[in-house]
Amino acid sequence: MTLSIFSAVLAGASVASAAYTLDGITHYPPVNNSFNSIDAVFAASSGTNGGYYNLSTVADIDYGAYNYCNMPHVRAREYEVPTGYSLQYLEIIHRHHKRTPYASNLFPYEDIPLYCDDTKMYFYAATKNGVDTSAIWWKDYMDADNPMMFVKNGFNSTCQFPQISFAGLEDSSQHGRDLWSVYGDKIHYLPKEFDPATMIVRVTNNQITSQVAGALIKGLYPDANDFTVYQQVASQDSLEPGYTCGPADDLRSAYEDTDAWFKHLNMSQDLFTALDTISGVDPTDSGWHSWFDHYFDNLSSRTCHQLPLPCNVTNATDCITQEQAEQVFRLGDYEYNYIFRQAQNATLYSATHYGAFLSELIAHLKGKISGTISTVYRHNIAHDGSIAPLLGALQIDYLRWPGMGSEVVFELWRKNNSHAYAVRVLYSGKPLSTQTPLGVLDMVDADEFIAYLEGLVGVDGSKVREFCTQ
Ligand SMILES: *[C@@H]1O[C@H](CO)[C@@H](O)[C@H](O)[C@H]1NC(C)=O
Ligand SMILES: *[C@@H]1O[C@H](CO)[C@@H](O)[C@H](O)[C@H]1NC(C)=O
Ligand SMILES: *[C@@H]1O[C@H](CO)[C@@H](O)[C@H](O)[C@H]1NC(C)=O
Ligand SMILES: *[C@@H]1O[C@H](CO)[C@@H](O)[C@H](O)[C@H]1NC(C)=O
Ligand SMILES: *[C@@H]1O[C@H](CO)[C@@H](O)[C@H](O)[C@H]1NC(C)=O
Ligand SMILES: *[C@@H]1O[C@H](CO)[C@@H](O)[C@H](O)[C@H]1NC(C)=O
Ligand SMILES: *[C@@H]1O[C@H](CO)[C@@H](O)[C@H](O)[C@H]1NC(C)=O
Ligand SMILES: *[C@@H]1O[C@H](CO)[C@@H](O)[C@H](O)[C@H]1NC(C)=O
Ligand SMILES: *[C@@H]1O[C@H](CO)[C@@H](O)[C@H](O)[C@H]1NC(C)=O
Repeated sequence: MTLSIFSAVLAGASVASAAYTLDGITHYPPVNNSFNSIDAVFAASSGTNGGYYNLSTVADIDYGAYNYCNMPHVRAREYEVPTGYSLQYLEIIHRHHKRTPYASNLFPYEDIPLYCDDTKMYFYAATKNGVDTSAIWWKDYMDADNPMMFVKNGFNSTCQFPQISFAGLEDSSQHGRDLWSVYGDKIHYLPKEFDPATMIVRVTNNQITSQVAGALIKGLYPDANDFTVYQQVASQDSLEPGYTCGPADDLRSAYEDTDAWFKHLNMSQDLFTALDTISGVDPTDSGWHSWFDHYFDNLSSRTCHQLPLPCNVTNATDCITQEQAEQVFRLGDYEYNYIFRQAQNATLYSATHYGAFLSELIAHLKGKISGTISTVYRHNIAHDGSIAPLLGALQIDYLRWPGMGSEVVFELWRKNNSHAYAVRVLYSGKPLSTQTPLGVLDMVDADEFIAYLEGLVGVDGSKVREFCTQ
């Protein structure tokens, strides 16, 4: 990486939360709270900071609370319509819904079988004008006659790792119905029939985003069938993101090679030892011990599907406790906030690692304002690894791990009888509160919002391209 383009300037040194400018991008630190204070994370013996990790549906009165299993999103009951404006463009990005864990997050031995016989996963190719082909779905199974069955993640399962679960498909469908309750029934923005000329649904190359799309689209448009979703070439995909940005990776590696990061891992040694003993995970496996990602995914997949916490396969009374699981969940929030918000270079990292998507968003907003594009709706189905840097670049007040179904909505409104445009950004169904000078992104002047994004990625994304290819 060429360092000459950097000019590190410390600003506002007299205030506790000093802004920090690097490569022309100003980082505003997140607010302090119990999620991002490592001492608070360890001071608590239990608790989830008001978050839910074991159900999809919370009572209306608590809707909006953090729910890792099914994050709150826009729906009619809570949605507020700005007065004196009409909606011009709607772009949504959301994390897929709940699923089985990734194969890399499976323990070496599973103490319970995981069945997915209640869903069918389709994979097939049809020609446009050639031979007829049949729809094909995969029945996954493990065979006890296969001598290798218990060598690697061998346990009785009919799931793929990952796949969207039956309950995750129900959540996806409800998500589609909730979007219709607002943008269809409430404000009559979306057309009655899906219009492929002006509406785009986009997925990543990971099949779970297509699984969500199928259920979400049916929730939104029950008559939709044989549906086209868009997918960029994986190696340059801006949504996942799949493009390479080595200098961004270098920044992140550097701030994960600091005392600030090691301190929380050191404090976690007893917890790691207890978890390893029960799971059989190799204590020297760095994938499991350089952060809490794997244990978090394994445990939350269980609790979100009301499965018991794992027990030692040779000693069924030695099980991971609710308190240990909650400690893992608090540490997961701590790590996400650190990586995407708290580290001094987190904003530059987020803005470059996710800059290609931001550049596309700028183009969509500008194109609508200048009247050069006709798209009215764009829906992107993505990952926690997409939502986190997006919120990092927008400098959310503080970041908890973006849970299943986390949704960020970009609304472009035009003031009635005027050419003035405003942007509202909703996260978890509410205007997004940031630490930037834009503050709460609630009907912010569109030019100011675009200027903020261009400050991150340059006009036409030139800055992110130069940064990533230096
Ligand atoms: C947040 O906590 C850090 C570390 O304790 C401290 O340096 C910083 O001043 C605090 N920021 C605010 C805004 O209180
Ligand atoms: C669900 O989560 C809540 C909050 O963490 C906890 O109090 C409760 O015991 C959990 N229920 C089950 C069945 O695990
Ligand atoms: C603004 O325009 C929208 C769309 O044309 C309309 O529904 C709304 O009633 C208008 N509001 C006012 C206050 O004129
Ligand atoms: C998590 O790890 C345990 C221990 O091996 C394993 O049994 C389980 O299948 C993994 N995944 C889930 C969702 O529990
Ligand atoms: C595995 O599960 C299937 C049901 O999916 C069951 O028929 C079979 O007996 C189980 N095998 C073992 C070894 O437990
Ligand atoms: C942030 O990046 C700059 C430029 O690469 C570097 O000098 C500084 O050490 C980094 N800070 C951290 C905490 O990694
Ligand atoms: C973490 O533990 C290692 C090994 O015990 C030690 O060398 C290192 O100084 C510790 N780092 C911090 C930040 O506590
Ligand atoms: C399970 O418990 C036994 C006996 O306490 C222990 O030897 C073993 O290491 C534990 N872990 C696994 C994965 O079996
Ligand atoms: C099984 O686990 C329990 C609970 O941790 C422990 O008390 C007991 O000694 C273990 N049994 C063996 C045989 O290790």
